[in-house]
Amino acid sequence: MKIKNLFQNNDSSLQKASKSIRKKGILDHNNPEIGIILGTGLGKEFLKEMNIIFSIDYQNIHGFVSSTVEAHAGKLHYGTIFDKYVIVMEGRFHYYEGWNMDQIVFPVRVLKKLGIQYLLISNAAGCMNLKWKKSELMLLTDHINLLPLNPLRGQNNHSLGPRFPDMSCPYSPQLNALLLKIASEKKIILREGVYICISGPSLETKAEYRFLRMVGGDAVGMSTVPEVIASVHMNLPCCAISVLTDECDPDNLQPVAIQDIIQAAAKAEGKLTELYLGLIEQL
Ligand code: HPA
Repeated sequence: MKIKNLFQNNDSSLQKASKSIRKKGILDHNNPEIGIILGTGLGKEFLKEMNIIFSIDYQNIHGFVSSTVEAHAGKLHYGTIFDKYVIVMEGRFHYYEGWNMDQIVFPVRVLKKLGIQYLLISNAAGCMNLKWKKSELMLLTDHINLLPLNPLRGQNNHSLGPRFPDMSCPYSPQLNALLLKIASEKKIILREGVYICISGPSLETKAEYRFLRMVGGDAVGMSTVPEVIASVHMNLPCCAISVLTDECDPDNLQPVAIQDIIQAAAKAEGKLTELYLGLIEQL
């Protein structure tokens, strides 16, 4: 029995979205080489370094849903950094907003269609490794997906990738090695650890932090893993950096408000920007 292709999974939707973005002014020889996703509270510093050629609101792109979250602008920017063509998502879609997994990873698939060869991701995350401090950065070396759904669930689109993608090395060793080298040269503390993705939107209880730490997590957040799985599926090398926005000590847990998270992210944004600019320069 043939299962009907899900709306966003099919080539014609991806084609339609990429065509509508291209029409705004991407010439064939100026395909974006690098895609960047800016997470909660991150964007202003990075975008200052970019020569923006055009920007589009997500609501004006076929198949993109609109960001419903504070500190997620909901804009796609195309332009250059160090004479390299890049495409930047200012804001992303989360499972807790109610979108389905196809809607969440649709933009990453569109960016791949537009030609990107690397995907650089950022997010804000709670810090469960108590040797580390708020506003430090963590390079993801691995993850644990605790979302109730996988973005590849459903009929597989073989033109994107295989049915059962290997996940033994989801984060590009090449990109991670470059980032560690850049961090050391720039004297930026870059921790390495495991990110756990939970659905949210509620933050964790003390017992949940204990559990998440016990099973191997260094940081916890509500994003990134769907996009990483979609990248691995398409054989698109990716890396991700968490800005550690709050310390999640179950024995001394302080209440956190989203404003605190946004403030802590803003404080670390300069360092994150330096790392990703350094990486873009070298790719
Ligand atoms: N949990 C706890 N703290 C956080 C999170 C989260 O998902 N995201 C940012 N800080």
